Amino acid sequence: METDSAIDRSDRWDIRHFPTIDSTNRWVLDEARAGAPSGLVASADHQSAGRGRLGRAWVAPPGTSLLVSVLLRLEIELEKVNTVAMATSLALLEGLPSELSSRSGLKWPNDVVVGDRKLAGVLAESILPPGDKSNSPEIAVVVGVGCNLEQKEFPAEVSAIATSCALELEKTITRDDLLNSFLSRLAFWSDEISSGNHWSVISAYRARLVTLGTSVRVDLGNETFEGVATDIDSSGRLLVTKINGEHVVVSVGDVVHLRSF
Ligand code: BTN
Repeated sequence: METDSAIDRSDRWDIRHFPTIDSTNRWVLDEARAGAPSGLVASADHQSAGRGRLGRAWVAPPGTSLLVSVLLRLEIELEKVNTVAMATSLALLEGLPSELSSRSGLKWPNDVVVGDRKLAGVLAESILPPGDKSNSPEIAVVVGVGCNLEQKEFPAEVSAIATSCALELEKTITRDDLLNSFLSRLAFWSDEISSGNHWSVISAYRARLVTLGTSVRVDLGNETFEGVATDIDSSGRLLVTKINGEHVVVSVGDVVHLRSF
């Protein structure tokens, strides 16, 4: 496996910083629609309308978090687009200081967790090429990361399920250092995807996926069920065996870890 020292990827990112913005994902998506090239990055001290997965809000007090969105233009099949979000959560986990990275894991689909507490989340939003997709396989994907950095406490409703780098580490990590190490790992994994090595992303992601082997409650929005998460497939979908033995493939949803075996 290539290491970051083998290739200098520092010139591929065009980083813009905003003291305040509604949403870095919204801004990068608009720039992508206007033709911005791959590698555009937006970060912010504060978002007034941060977006989370499944239509939720992403709220963080000003200056406490890494809030960043990245535009990646990739020639990939539509069914492989989830690998971009998987690569992003993996890149963030690997970009953490080693003493924290080694204690962290991925919760399906794209949360970075320390034990049962969420450290970071990923929101991927895609723009499909217009017209005949078979002649224009490039997909623009905006991956947004919110990582709790400096919070020493959280609102009561999430205090039992959230954590931050400041709570987990004795030394401090700056937002710029985390951004740089994240982008370095994201460059590596997006190159793997561009080279057609989806399986290297899937296998590295699977190796850090603490959801596997865990008893889970799956919330599909209109239906909730419990089972054991057994694996992921080649598109990153979660395979769950229900208590009655039925096998379910979960593409989109929320998962609560109940216990590990
Ligand atoms: C989740 O729900 O877990 C995903 C949260 C993603 C939040 C980040 S913060 C930077 C970027 N801009 C947004 O509006 N959302 C993402």
